[in-house]
Amino acid sequence: MYNVAITGTGVFTPSHIITNDELVAAFNAHADLYNAENEAEIAAGTVTAKPHSSSDFIVAASGIEQRYVLDKDGILDPARMFPKLAARPDDTPGFMAEIGVDAAQEALAAAGIDAADVDLVICAACNMERAYPAIAVEIQQLLGAGGFAFDMNVACSSATFGIQTASDMIRAGSIRRALVINPEICSAHLEWRDRDCHFIFGDVATATLLERDEDLTGPHFKVLSTRCATQFSNNIRNNNGYLRRTHDQMEDRRDMQFMQNGRKVFKEVLPLVSKHIADHLDDTGVPATDFARLWLHQANKTMNDYIGKKVLGRIPEPHEQPNILQDYANTSSAGSIIAFSQNSDDLAVGAKGLICSFGAGYSVGSVIVERA
Ligand code: COA
Repeated sequence: MYNVAITGTGVFTPSHIITNDELVAAFNAHADLYNAENEAEIAAGTVTAKPHSSSDFIVAASGIEQRYVLDKDGILDPARMFPKLAARPDDTPGFMAEIGVDAAQEALAAAGIDAADVDLVICAACNMERAYPAIAVEIQQLLGAGGFAFDMNVACSSATFGIQTASDMIRAGSIRRALVINPEICSAHLEWRDRDCHFIFGDVATATLLERDEDLTGPHFKVLSTRCATQFSNNIRNNNGYLRRTHDQMEDRRDMQFMQNGRKVFKEVLPLVSKHIADHLDDTGVPATDFARLWLHQANKTMNDYIGKKVLGRIPEPHEQPNILQDYANTSSAGSIIAFSQNSDDLAVGAKGLICSFGAGYSVGSVIVERA
């Protein structure tokens, strides 16, 4: 068995920013349009009027202040309310491949590794822009990587599940280097017309380079242990899929975008994640007091505050549990990797930390690392 290290990470951040105030202004204009169009039905009680959204609510409920997206104009058009991305011909890189390659090249440059020396590319994300061929194979070709590539989807936990999958292959010796890439175009499957969730997501791509921990000269993080768990739940769900046409369900339907029962998710996921981390620490013999940093999934500030306190047994200092959700919003599987990528260089050799993501499935993945 070989040891595994994270030797580089990369983050692609889109150039369009939507602030809460811009988002709320567009939503409220959309709600006014909707209410005017349905005036008679609303008066008759057959249609419910759409209430306005509020920036104050969004910050208080989630901690999110803005989000990055690939296309701002389509989302903020009150008559449209979703991004407009021109379809690409088959001989042009797809959107996920393009942003994934950008993040991957940053991760490779950080480690000083040539793409040709990578044996495995995993594209791990909560949605794929097409059924096949795998996005990962397209990324492999665009990068000039060797070996093989495949896609995997474990929703918000895709990155940590990808890290465990790649780490296991490196440990076993079947590969030497892997890129786990998370292109998350969440703006395309968020329902921007639904006040309860329109503020939640943003777009980003992250990449993590994992290598056999042998003769490494540059700074890196040893992967001490990984753990994944799942438990079925319908509380975060998107029914869009390839059987849609067979069901004669091609119409604009609410359940073909992201749906969640936020309160239930809150109540059920927190104990699941807290227990998962506690068991992982118990079984590996790493006491929580050893952790210099927690890089948690970036869905909700209150959730992270709760988990941080549960894990450390006290309220973590801001530098011990860095949040990036105020700037990026929830970027699904990429969130904990952005937090890790942007807040890990300062750790001293020997410092330990925990990357943890959780979400739909339900799913939870944790990675214990040590600075070297
Ligand atoms: N603007 C103003 N008011 C809003 C609003 C908005 N955009 N959205 C909802 N409200 C209102 C609701 O109608 C409700 O009003 P009521 O009390 O009169 O019924 C009230 O605010 C509270 O709504 P609720 O949905 O219960 O809010 P919440 O405190 O649970 O926060 C989430 C909502 C989504 C932020 C929160 O549940 C959450 O973060 N859940 C975790 C799950 C998660 O983020 N998952 C993502 C995938 S991993």
